[in-house]
Amino acid sequence: MINLFSWDDALATGFDDVDLQHKKLLLIIDDVRKLLDETGKDYALRMAKDLKRLTDYTAYHFAEEESLMKARGFPGLEDHKKEHAAFVERLRAEIATVGEAKPGDGFQFYRFLGTWLLNHIAKSDQAWAAYIRGKTEV
Ligand SMILES: [Fe+2]
Ligand SMILES: [Fe+2]
Repeated sequence: MINLFSWDDALATGFDDVDLQHKKLLLIIDDVRKLLDETGKDYALRMAKDLKRLTDYTAYHFAEEESLMKARGFPGLEDHKKEHAAFVERLRAEIATVGEAKPGDGFQFYRFLGTWLLNHIAKSDQAWAAYIRGKTEV
């Protein structure tokens, strides 16, 4: 299966650390995709490992973003935090049930991950980035 979710410069926020973190998240999601082509009894174990990596790095990235938004007084911080928390919750639920996954579940989840991340970057992350850039330029 081909990679459905890749970086595009239109996604750039203008904050280099954040952009690197977004690229890294896309790479980890691509590792999840690569696992989907594999079978074998350690599939669930390796999937759980990749999802743990994704959860850990996501937590790090969200914390970085939230402290940046807070430091710059972004008014949408609370709503943005809710979006982050819902995503983390979904990741946790998926890890908890990965052992019971049916064929096709992995692909559906992969599609959810990539779609959520690209949409979130394109809309919600661009919103705080535009606000902070605007404030900085004034
Ligand atoms: Fe982000
Ligand atoms: Fe975000």
